[in-house]
Amino acid sequence: MDKILGNLHLVLLIGVVLALGLIFSGFPQGAEQVSGIFQWLHVFFGITWIGLLYYFNFVQIPTMPSVPAELKPGVTKYIAPKALFFFRWAAVFTVITGAILAYLYGELHSGLLLEETHRLIGVGMWLALIMATNVWVVIWPNQKKALGIVAADDAAKAKAAKVAMYASRINTMLSIPMLVAMTNAH
Ligand code: HEM
Repeated sequence: MDKILGNLHLVLLIGVVLALGLIFSGFPQGAEQVSGIFQWLHVFFGITWIGLLYYFNFVQIPTMPSVPAELKPGVTKYIAPKALFFFRWAAVFTVITGAILAYLYGELHSGLLLEETHRLIGVGMWLALIMATNVWVVIWPNQKKALGIVAADDAAKAKAAKVAMYASRINTMLSIPMLVAMTNAH
């Protein structure tokens, strides 16, 4: 048992094999199979991204003030950098798979232009694009300073932590209407 469940890569591989088994046994069917695969990948990356966003906002940020000073490096040097790695790359893959999905559904152009036919998914795509830009342009550069991945003095670190936190809060706020659009577009 430990050989399987103790190995994350193996567990993920088994999950993917089971998913492919389901897909190639005929669910979804025919032409919808390709968009079905991208829908699956899109939601996989989406929950990885937003799941980590919620971990930061619901768990890590509110708990840090009560973590004893000598234990804080456990979070800032080990847990947060790893979580940020999956967070920012999941954002990229969510956008890529989302754009492919929109293209396959013929709603990329009209959605981005907020035309009436695809206005709801268009609003969702714009909200998610703003969020992804926030991740790469504001949150990640400021987190690098705040966590000491790039050199910064104490004042610059404190300021960067605050900016990253506010950007993360904005993304948490935008994620709620964004999910309404994503889940109700079809
Ligand atoms: C810029 C980024 C994104 C783009 C371009 C995008 C695009 C799309 C498109 C085109 C669809 C299909 C809509 C339809 O059924 O007509 C969709 C569905 C969906 N998206 Fe996104 N999306 C993005 C970000 C996200 C994020 C961050 C999440 C977070 C979890 C997410 C979750 C979902 C979900 C749950 C669905 C519904 C899937 C289903 O009904 O089977 N999307 N997205």
